[in-house]
Amino acid sequence: MLELGYWSFAAVSLLIKGGEIVTGDARYVADIFCAGETITRIDRDLDAPGAEVIDASGKYVFPGFIDPHTHIYLPFMGAFAKDTYETASKAALVGGTTTIFEMICPSREMSAAEGFRLWNEQAAGKSACDYTYHMGVTRFDQANAEQLREIVKAGISSFKIFLAYKGAFGIDDTELYHTLRLAKELGVVVTAHCENETLVAERQKELLGAGLTGPEQHHESRPPIVEAEGVHHLMTFAEMTGAHVYIVHLSCDEALREALAGRHRGVNVTVETLIQYLVLDKTDAERPDFEGAKYVMSPPLRDKRNQEVMWNGLRSGEVQTVATDHAPFDFKTQKVMGRDDFTKIPNGIPSLEERVNLLFTHGVKSGKLDLHTFVNVASTNAAKIFGLFPRKGAIQIGADADLVVYDPTYRGTISAKTQMMNVDYSAFEGWEIEGRPSAVTVRGEVAVRDGKFVGTVGRGRMLEREPTHF
Ligand code: URP
Ligand code: ZN
Ligand code: ZN
Repeated sequence: MLELGYWSFAAVSLLIKGGEIVTGDARYVADIFCAGETITRIDRDLDAPGAEVIDASGKYVFPGFIDPHTHIYLPFMGAFAKDTYETASKAALVGGTTTIFEMICPSREMSAAEGFRLWNEQAAGKSACDYTYHMGVTRFDQANAEQLREIVKAGISSFKIFLAYKGAFGIDDTELYHTLRLAKELGVVVTAHCENETLVAERQKELLGAGLTGPEQHHESRPPIVEAEGVHHLMTFAEMTGAHVYIVHLSCDEALREALAGRHRGVNVTVETLIQYLVLDKTDAERPDFEGAKYVMSPPLRDKRNQEVMWNGLRSGEVQTVATDHAPFDFKTQKVMGRDDFTKIPNGIPSLEERVNLLFTHGVKSGKLDLHTFVNVASTNAAKIFGLFPRKGAIQIGADADLVVYDPTYRGTISAKTQMMNVDYSAFEGWEIEGRPSAVTVRGEVAVRDGKFVGTVGRGRMLEREPTHF
């Protein structure tokens, strides 16, 4: 029998009985006992008088899922993303995600310390699930560098940079070089949005000048080669500095080839794709009557052939994670700002709530992913890359009791009318899903039951992470 020492009798205890436990590398039927916030026993036929019992027979039990790339608080393109930590964390939990990584994106006028404080103010006391940040480096100077050192000491062991969004979050090559050098010194991984900002800006001017203003032009302004150039650029700088890098929202074959070429040369690079790129495509952004604006994000949705490239990348281990880049902007009041000019459509396709169910439906149920790969790309790999494993992303003694009891027989339909995300549309309206979390726990407390949020707003903690990328 596996057992972890003693536990307090005052602690809340929870017994998850008879489920099929599936992790990144194991699959077996057993009961899980959680004392307080952690998993303390895993065995057959456990008995725990007084414990709350969840019957998981006929269901899978997965480690809590992790979304490594979200924007909850995001002032961007003249708008504010619609979710709060309360609405977003509820949506995440209902969808099986128990840990979120938020991108801190200070304006270039703001210092790193001000950005860190501002984002913390938004999150503190409002999240129902655990969260942590990637610290955005939107300007690099000596004062900021000192503040970044302090932020890393405070438990944030990853940076975020943008090679896109000229004049907003984008940094120049000198800043890129010094950010990567600092990251290498501190042992933090640098997550990067890779698109060549000059090419985007020039293409946008040309298209608008030619009277091409609709949402479908967004793709033309940032074709695959623009993203591939961004990745190539990052690979060169990472190779020169030895920094470890993580490419966010990689969308296409051309960009993946550049990442793999870098990896082949010895660059320590990991790759994230998004659920949107796996199930949506460029034709969605071409929908008539400005409906395409709902599907405008950067890098843009690609030609359908790229979906198979991304699925294959996940299966083969070339691509490590599936995130959402959740950035919720209302269609009626915010996306509409770009009705006459696609460059003014706030970028983002909200998906935090649906990521896991869509990945299960279109990945596992359709035979594209086995269950272990599913768990790895939606949970465990992010925990390993970003210094949370085995506290998160694992079902083992001593791990946080973040568990998802998943019903693979559930059938349902996605709709904005029933979603928890605070946004006025769903990019997946009317889509069928096969499977959903029936119960979700956050450090031993049941936060979702029968698909409904029953957790505690404010219970979510900011997770401190040690640097691991030396
Ligand atoms: O379209 C996107 N991706 N919106 C959010 C900002 C970003 O680039 O991650
Ligand atoms: Zn981005
Ligand atoms: Zn993002």
